[in-house]
Amino acid sequence: MKGIILAGGAGSRLYPLTLVASKQLQPVYDKPMVYYPLATFIENGISSICLISTPHDLPRFSQLLGDGKQWGISIEYREQAKPAGIAQAFLIAESFIGQDPVSLILGDNIFYGAESFKRAFAEFRGGATIFGYQVHDPERYGVVEFDSSGNAISIEEKPKNPRSNYAVPGLYLYDNQVVPITKALKPSPRGELEITDVNLSYLAKKQLRVEKLSRGFAWLDAGTSSSLHEASAYVQTIEKRQGIKIGCPEEAALQRGFISVSQFESNLANLPNCEYRDYLGRLLQEKRKELS
Ligand code: G1P
Repeated sequence: MKGIILAGGAGSRLYPLTLVASKQLQPVYDKPMVYYPLATFIENGISSICLISTPHDLPRFSQLLGDGKQWGISIEYREQAKPAGIAQAFLIAESFIGQDPVSLILGDNIFYGAESFKRAFAEFRGGATIFGYQVHDPERYGVVEFDSSGNAISIEEKPKNPRSNYAVPGLYLYDNQVVPITKALKPSPRGELEITDVNLSYLAKKQLRVEKLSRGFAWLDAGTSSSLHEASAYVQTIEKRQGIKIGCPEEAALQRGFISVSQFESNLANLPNCEYRDYLGRLLQEKRKELS
């Protein structure tokens, strides 16, 4: 399965921060925001990735992430000249997707506790798989309603009167039908190709699977100054308490077997002296012990 990271948008809710760097390049505690969705992809075995952003911001992303070789993956870049909705990503990346299934992740969505995703990626056979996560403010999101047997029966984009508390997070898995489905969509009243409309097409075909994410799972979005700050505080709390890092592509790549121990070691050698390097150094020692 291929992966698209959508990192576009004006980030106007974060002004003036976004005058200097796009939203997805902002720090979330100790890493750029885009590291988190990238690591989620790597953890789930996605090694062919296309990052979509604005013509203005794209060079910064490619400076940061390069071609992905350092993590044993490939990263291509495509421009979203004008923001015309999340689903536009499938049209922009059509040649990248080719005949493959594809997962889309939003560049400002941060997930922690990815076990549920692992199963969904491993078991994906076709149609679409999306997720439902309980929130207190569902009206800010796509909202999914379930019947008494747990089947999804409706999805609405930012409804005034939500039919449930289950929001749809920004990680979606689709088979190759997503391209023709998107081509057939009409822009919504706000002028966008809505990801919710893609999901509704799959629902109408009875090919939509919605998995509820458990309470212990964390989904954070970082689109406003206060949610950005909260996401940083959350990451810091977990990292300090557990002595681990969330959203570390090097670690995910090593665990997933995308890079060898010696590649990991040479990546580490290229880093300046910093806390991030110390962490990778500790991981390397642990890995060596494990292998000896
Ligand atoms: C978008 C989607 C929405 C989804 C959300 C997740 O909203 O349209 O369905 O629940 O991402 O972050 P937006 O980015 O417009 O707030």
